[in-house]
Amino acid sequence: MDGYLKIEQSRFLGGEVPLVGAKNAVLVIMASLILTEGKSKLSNVPSSHDVLQMIKLLKELGAKVFFDKVARTLEVDTASISRCKVSKDIMRKMQASILVMGPLLARLGKADIALPGGCVIGTRPIDYHLNNLRKMGVTIHIEGEYLFAYTNGLLPQRLILEYPSVGATENCIMAALGAQGTTQIINASAEPEVLDLIKVLQKMGANIRMTPPATIIIEGGATLKPIEHEVMYDRLEAGSLLLATAVTGGSINLPQAPAYSLDLFLMKLEQMGHYIEIGSDGVGVRLKATRSPQAVSFKTAPFPGFPTDLQAPMLVAQSLAHGKAVIEETVFENRLLFVSELQKMGAFVKVEGNKAFVTGVDELYGAAVNALDIRSGFALLIAGLAAKGITTLSGLHHLSRGYESIQTKLIGMGATIEHIDEHLTSPVVTTQSSYMKEHR
Ligand code: EPZ
Repeated sequence: MDGYLKIEQSRFLGGEVPLVGAKNAVLVIMASLILTEGKSKLSNVPSSHDVLQMIKLLKELGAKVFFDKVARTLEVDTASISRCKVSKDIMRKMQASILVMGPLLARLGKADIALPGGCVIGTRPIDYHLNNLRKMGVTIHIEGEYLFAYTNGLLPQRLILEYPSVGATENCIMAALGAQGTTQIINASAEPEVLDLIKVLQKMGANIRMTPPATIIIEGGATLKPIEHEVMYDRLEAGSLLLATAVTGGSINLPQAPAYSLDLFLMKLEQMGHYIEIGSDGVGVRLKATRSPQAVSFKTAPFPGFPTDLQAPMLVAQSLAHGKAVIEETVFENRLLFVSELQKMGAFVKVEGNKAFVTGVDELYGAAVNALDIRSGFALLIAGLAAKGITTLSGLHHLSRGYESIQTKLIGMGATIEHIDEHLTSPVVTTQSSYMKEHR
């Protein structure tokens, strides 16, 4: 998305708001379809930019893909996949491209990919992926920006992750499905999106189970069949919308929110003084914002810890609360970089290493700010909604990578946001009425 957003102070956002499917589940599930030969159908697929990139990648490998953006259904026929090479421009667009490596090795015994480029939140190394694939009998050569991997047969192994990496867990699970025998992954990630992938693989016919503490056991070698699956709703979109409501003093109902996957985050919102009500069997969240939020400290960590992907918008909420908060980012080394943009809006935050020391202020004021990644882009957007005056937010391509037309959704919640595209003469304005038409 080109241009910038012009954001005006908007009070009392809310209403009953639908969610879309989880970006961090659908991308890996799309990659997992390489393990099957036939036509699978996914529903609840968000039309975010990363999904469109993953479609391009699957087509480059030879798959036939049909995406109905309105119905949010994706049909992927993988029978004709024969290529194992992914071009640099696709690989460099998103870290998730690395997730085709495991399935390609399991299906074709080869994967020629460009190294993912890393991003502003961190260098995004892939050593956990490569070290464990090597242990499974994969030969990997790296020449410049390219990585050539092949195997004469994947070997079942006891794999130990030195950190519960989401992507490394997912890649190792999918590679292990191509190894005859039992593979164990110790210190595996248990993020809800990984569990949604495991659900899909079990539907394909894979024998996978999780045992405490954080161990995943895979019986490889089975022929895996195409599936139908509804992607889980996006807990990160839910958390993002709850925070947009909290910082504007509104009230919201998210009937589809997977509250069961947001326990610690929701507890922190309650500690701030916001009223939270969870639906029966842990699905659905209502929030009524308090008029005098108290600052709370938190530390990001792998699930079920506080999600690193909600750290930035939650930090914005602390910058407008009473008191002080210490926020520790333990997952990505550069995920506090966006604070320098927030300080332009009057936030009182000191960053020392991976800790941010926040002192709440009565109000922020509008400024020209730039999104550095998906989540800090959203954080600056809601800071603009809370701030006095006008905020302009550039770097919109980040936002559209991780959210499906999020500004349209926020406008439907009562936000005043204009999308100014310099290439057009007049602003691209999505009015509330068109939002309501689209989402009746
Ligand atoms: C996934 O990234 C998500 N992306 C991220 O969401 C999310 O923030 C992250 O998990 C943590 O929850 C997708 O699922 C597509 P990791 P991933 O491997 O798999 C280090 C968003 O905004 N590491 O768990 O790349 C790594 O540098 C995105 O939606 C290694 O050192 O995350 C990081 O410090 C951002 N070597 C830590 O582990 C490796 O081989 C966690 O990374 C792999 C990772």
